[in-house]
Amino acid sequence: TIRQVLGRSVWDSRGRPTVEVEVHLEGGGSGRAIAPSGASTGSGEALDRRDGGSRLGGYGVDAAVAAVNTQIRAALIGRDAGDQEGVDQCLVTLDGTGNRQVLGGNAMIATSMAVAHAAAAGSGQPLWRYLGERTLAGEEPCTLPVPEVQIFGGGAHAEGCIDLQDFMVVPFGAGSFREAMEWTAEVYRAAGSLMDRRGRRCGVADEGGYWPAFDSNEEAIAALATAVEDAGFSTEKEVGLSLDIAATQFYREGRYCLGKDRRTLDVGQWYEQLARWLSEFPICMIEDPFHESDLANHAALTEAFGDRVQIVGDDLCVTHTDNILACQRQRACNTLLCKPNQVGTLSEALAAHQMAKEFGWNTVVSARSGETEDVTIVHLALGWGIQQLKVGSFARSERMAKWNEALRIEEALGNKARYAGRAPFAR
Ligand code: PGA
Ligand code: ZN
Repeated sequence: TIRQVLGRSVWDSRGRPTVEVEVHLEGGGSGRAIAPSGASTGSGEALDRRDGGSRLGGYGVDAAVAAVNTQIRAALIGRDAGDQEGVDQCLVTLDGTGNRQVLGGNAMIATSMAVAHAAAAGSGQPLWRYLGERTLAGEEPCTLPVPEVQIFGGGAHAEGCIDLQDFMVVPFGAGSFREAMEWTAEVYRAAGSLMDRRGRRCGVADEGGYWPAFDSNEEAIAALATAVEDAGFSTEKEVGLSLDIAATQFYREGRYCLGKDRRTLDVGQWYEQLARWLSEFPICMIEDPFHESDLANHAALTEAFGDRVQIVGDDLCVTHTDNILACQRQRACNTLLCKPNQVGTLSEALAAHQMAKEFGWNTVVSARSGETEDVTIVHLALGWGIQQLKVGSFARSERMAKWNEALRIEEALGNKARYAGRAPFAR
């Protein structure tokens, strides 16, 4: 039974305020969680409630914290923390809006996650085990996800200095999560050396990937492939490439405006450009390739490449079951990017994953560009049986905290641990 709910404002990886919630249970056990925050947000996302005004650039979350300490606290005290769905439904009803503007999506997701942490603590289990018991129908959670790791950061995470947002690698050929991390470290180092050799190393972007000081988008993709090869890996068999295009960010009035390439392409030309990249580079995943409302072109790309490439819906699906259903009807993508704060509660994020799974899609559970030391999503990957995990780059502790948590879980599983490896890519 929930005895107390405490909200406070803490700081995220961009130095902006965010909501932290602590939940205490009668008879001991407590949990804590922090809301993350996106920069390239889809239009259908739950709203981060911000104070506005001039203080802290308008990013203050005092009103969201106040919602936790008044309405949410009053509604949750006395409820069963083990009834996650009941708690989440209570939050949804209390808010009463589609975009969570009353309580704030940030207040809601921090609360929802903190309740899960408290319930797990109360049951004496780590969160991943606790969730697995409730979600995996008797199967023990034992599959470590394949990481999707950013090497160059662009788009809204690098002040638009290059158009595409994430240039990532996927070490699906490794034999364990630990080995996948080692391979990633070698690729990240090789990419750093490559930037040094070219005189292009100038620090990192928001998620820890190298700042994308390239002359064109394609040069960045080619450099990514070179870094994998320099590190001694096969891009076909061991470490694949992945792009988050985040195309809505550079779409203007019917055209894709590639500032870095000094070209604006109409939709047909943009489709041809993407098709060429997918044909010429060993890309195994591509996210948000078109504007979030253009299901027809997503469907055409999925039809053409979906048998060997994961077409990932982030802004396209915003972790909402209604969007996932619409995408399935048109076959607009084949993989869900699951970000719990896009929808506002854990139960709704789980429902999104379960719907995707029912449609035969893959799911990637994902962090946001604004993050903290919170590692809840790693536990969701294990406990919900999600085989892929995206948390940003291989630098900065808000990212490394997640990779390190997965290492600990793999160790705790001992010889029961399995690495998802190529399984999510066998189509
Ligand atoms: P965001 O970026 O957290 O800024 O939305 C991550 C992504 O687009 O996948
Ligand atoms: Zn994305």
